[in-house]
Amino acid sequence: MRRLSTLGALALLAACGNADAAPEAGEVALATPDQDLPTLLVYKTATCGCCSGWVEHMRQAGFTVDARDLPNNTELMRVKVDAGVPGAMATCHTALVDGYVIEGHVPAEQVKRLLAERPQVAGIAVPGMPTGSPGMEGPSPQPYRVHSFDRQGGSAVFAEVDPR
Ligand code: CU
Ligand code: CU
Repeated sequence: MRRLSTLGALALLAACGNADAAPEAGEVALATPDQDLPTLLVYKTATCGCCSGWVEHMRQAGFTVDARDLPNNTELMRVKVDAGVPGAMATCHTALVDGYVIEGHVPAEQVKRLLAERPQVAGIAVPGMPTGSPGMEGPSPQPYRVHSFDRQGGSAVFAEVDPR
């Protein structure tokens, strides 16, 4: 797996400026929030189209989403550090839900599994914005991993996802 330094993650954040990965207007239907699911608080920046694509994916999956745009990537990095996101897993958006941290383009299915199983972890992450993850749809989807992490520097594979 490709490891990103904090600097690498910052470069990645800076690269997250196109709206190409945002869902097409025709794909977006009105989602009905599932009252049994906790609200997802999402921190992102306004210019990142793939973040909006992921927010839409989570809404379609029934989550109520409170999405907040931060003025710049420095503020976003501060949220990640406070939340305990490992530098190597830092990517374009960070969400907080029911005591857990969700970093990057994690499928809603895996967030629901996390909330049902409630493991002793700080959160889960999909590093590196892989093509084919929710909000990062593209012509050549690739398999990717969802990792769990704790605040002591530990991490583990939480799920292997193959969107092909
Ligand atoms: Cu992204
Ligand atoms: Cu994002």
